[in-house]
Amino acid sequence: MSVDSYKLAAARHALKFVEPKMRLGLGTGSTASLFVELLGEEVRGGLQVLCVPTSEATRALAARLGIPLTTLDETPLLDLTIDGADELDNELRLIKGGGGALLREKIVATASDRMIVIADASKRVEKLGAFPLPVEVARFGVTATRNMIEMLAADSGCQGEIKLRIGSDGNPFITDGGNYIFDCAFGAIDDPESLDEALKFIPGVVENGLFLGIADIAVIGGPDGLAVIEASYGESQEAV
Ligand code: A5P
Repeated sequence: MSVDSYKLAAARHALKFVEPKMRLGLGTGSTASLFVELLGEEVRGGLQVLCVPTSEATRALAARLGIPLTTLDETPLLDLTIDGADELDNELRLIKGGGGALLREKIVATASDRMIVIADASKRVEKLGAFPLPVEVARFGVTATRNMIEMLAADSGCQGEIKLRIGSDGNPFITDGGNYIFDCAFGAIDDPESLDEALKFIPGVVENGLFLGIADIAVIGGPDGLAVIEASYGESQEAV
């Protein structure tokens, strides 16, 4: 079994949470794309749902598959968002934004009654932070913002290289919202809540990739089958 098959198993399981007429948030990234592909099959089979994508890439994919789309302005309350993650811990705290969509992902997830994370087992960690934390920042005053991130993160016990993300064209990566991203290699984040609070103080920080208290369920595919973690009900194992 490969990582892709674990992602696919998680995406397939998440489909069981989707009910007719639901308003869905569609995540971004390779795992979320597998879910969107599966959802497309269901829609072609007659399932009625209305979806808000978390990125232009997901919008294009869903549109190509014929999935009915809306915007968060037209449909500001969603039933369920299904999205991937770069890391998750046992308390369902996440790092997201590896694909650069963290701002819309957080807006859409918090506008949803529930968020389900789908991932392969490599994403599960004891402590967040091995994956560099993406921080989306306004382009104006980017050096001052970078310096403030460094200073306030250090106050929360986090230090490490803070690198402006560069896109495949060699220029700074620009998010769907027109912003830059700093990838912050802090290593183990002992107190994610305190770091999140500190980053929120910085005017140039648009949003950071810590998703705390947002995910309700995680479906994780791995060599031992599926692990389903519920935020309030503990963990259960299911065979793939
Ligand atoms: C996109 O900005 C991210 O938050 C993704 O959800 C995350 O990077 C997971 O992507 P993969 O499923 O491709 O690993």
